[in-house]
Amino acid sequence: MSQTTPILVIAASGKVGSRIVARLEANGTPVRAASRSTSPAFDWEDQATWEPAHVGAEVAFVAFVPDLAVKGSVEAIRAFTETAKRTGLKHLVLLSGRGEANAVASEQVVQASGIGYTIIRASWFNQNFSEGHLLAPVLEGLIALPAEDRKEPFVDANDIADVAVAALLDPRHAGQLYEVTGPRLLSFADVAAEINAAAGLNVQYAHMPLQEFHTLMLSLMDKPTADFLHDLCEEVFDGRNESVSDGVQRALGREPRDFRSYAAEVAASGVWKA
Ligand SMILES: NC(=O)c1ccc[n+]([C@@H]2O[C@H](COP(=O)([O-])OP(=O)(O)OC[C@H]3O[C@@H](n4cnc5c(N)ncnc54)[C@H](OP(=O)(O)O)[C@@H]3O)[C@@H](O)[C@H]2O)c1
Repeated sequence: MSQTTPILVIAASGKVGSRIVARLEANGTPVRAASRSTSPAFDWEDQATWEPAHVGAEVAFVAFVPDLAVKGSVEAIRAFTETAKRTGLKHLVLLSGRGEANAVASEQVVQASGIGYTIIRASWFNQNFSEGHLLAPVLEGLIALPAEDRKEPFVDANDIADVAVAALLDPRHAGQLYEVTGPRLLSFADVAAEINAAAGLNVQYAHMPLQEFHTLMLSLMDKPTADFLHDLCEEVFDGRNESVSDGVQRALGREPRDFRSYAAEVAASGVWKA
């Protein structure tokens, strides 16, 4: 791995990508931030953009957007690794999702590609509640999901970025699969209580039956996205992810950040003020 060539960061303005770019820039590492709005652009839906974004890069952080759980992700990751091999990429850090069949299949494509790799298999991000699709429900005071009282070990995007930067810069992380979670399991009702305590809000959690959730999503967004959210919730809210893992500790030798610390910081930033 070389730090003299730019590190390619895909989905560079995303929840994880933006934190990786900030860390690399802060320590003087050359970065090529890539997304649909950069120059050169990188668009997962336009393979013609992939090779120009790679030129000169030997190391890359790869986040597939919208999500590795969607149909077609495995084929896209396979085609991506072919491009990466052709352009001389030597090491690829893949952001993956926990408990998702297509994410695991995508990991296997990367592992078999012949390119050096580190896999970061993440649980749900804390930042979904402040920078993602669950911010609007927080602001509206009601998080309604088909999750019963399932628990999730929410992980902080800052921890994921720390693991990714370590993997991008240090060859000792090559060949590793880090399953990164936060330090404790929280139900969505627990999350609402943490947000309320930190921000003085009165957010509630309510279980919404899966079909009702799907119908609501269809009224709010395009059908493929609504179908994807339906399938994702059906897949991951069966209890499979109700355990913590030690990926942050193994990669960084420290404990992961707790949701309470995240909630205090977001509350202080004013993002949750209505
Ligand atoms: N959120 C979670 O809880 C969670 C948990 C585990 C794993 N993951 C994984 O994390 C990844 C998503 O990461 P994230 O949440 O950091 O993403 P995000 O914040 O939603 O990322 C948005 C970024 O993706 C870019 N983007 C959007 N569409 C694109 C396209 N067609 N081609 C290229 N770039 C595109 C956007 O920039 P432009 O608009 O400029 O293109 C922006 O930089 C997914 O692979 C998912 O499987 C997420």
